[in-house]
Amino acid sequence: MKTLLEILTDARQRRVAIGHFNFSDLAAFKAIVAAGRSLAVPVMAGVSEGERDFVGVRQAAALVKSIRDEYDYPIFLNADHTHSLEKAEIAAKAGFDEVIFDGSALPFDENIAQTKRAVEALKSINPAIMVEGEIGYIGASSEILEKTPEGMSALTTPAEARQFVDATRVDVLAPAVGNMHGMLQSMVRGENQKRLDLERIGELAKATGIFMTLHGGSGTNDDDFKKAIQAGMTIVHVNTEIRIAWRRGIESALAKDPTQIAPYKILPAAVKAIQEVVTARLRLFSFQS
Ligand code: G3H
Ligand code: ZN
Repeated sequence: MKTLLEILTDARQRRVAIGHFNFSDLAAFKAIVAAGRSLAVPVMAGVSEGERDFVGVRQAAALVKSIRDEYDYPIFLNADHTHSLEKAEIAAKAGFDEVIFDGSALPFDENIAQTKRAVEALKSINPAIMVEGEIGYIGASSEILEKTPEGMSALTTPAEARQFVDATRVDVLAPAVGNMHGMLQSMVRGENQKRLDLERIGELAKATGIFMTLHGGSGTNDDDFKKAIQAGMTIVHVNTEIRIAWRRGIESALAKDPTQIAPYKILPAAVKAIQEVVTARLRLFSFQS
């Protein structure tokens, strides 16, 4: 099976992106795998620190490995938004394909220092691991928000992106380009969408020459997604939309059968709802228009 580096290199050449979807239970995991396999495109599955606390680090790695072994399907595992070197090292030792060392809330120089240290430590555990660094705070939670999070950073500049990449030697950069983690209530109602600074994405791609990830994908305008990928985004993260689908799926199953208590009879509705979201996003990210 191809490595994550090969998959990303191939995607960038074809001007498409790899969809990255978070999970914290078997329903979401099954839905991600089913959507990716049915479209025959690679996917990344991600677990944040909180999601890892619930699923288990080794257990997440074992789930992904079981799918690779059984179906020879290219699914890759990412330790999403990891804030400490200790947790990053635990994920690397468990066999994760990528670790995001997230120093975005730190002062810029401190972010550089800690990310550089993480890159060196993680590559010494697994030289093939991909390490992503982040510049610019874009909010921290994949939740339904009442208002835009406090302290959102200005857009990442080409100069700071180049300085960060040169100093840390990260493989992948997550910049602030108008994106935001989570969805405002108005976005959930479909009244407005996240819009991206496409010109800045192009400038950052040119300035750094490395892979870039678009975080905070939920609720983004479809056309902006397409153009952001054309401009240089090779990974796109979606989480809040999955969580909303999970909850709606379970609510509808319980509404239909209020006395049902068998999880395997309730959860398929969540799998179906999440699979629809992931399929729609993969159709947008993983195919040339
Ligand atoms: O790392 C996770 C993502 O960036 C998800 O953001 O919840 O806004 O889709 P989202
Ligand atoms: Zn993110």
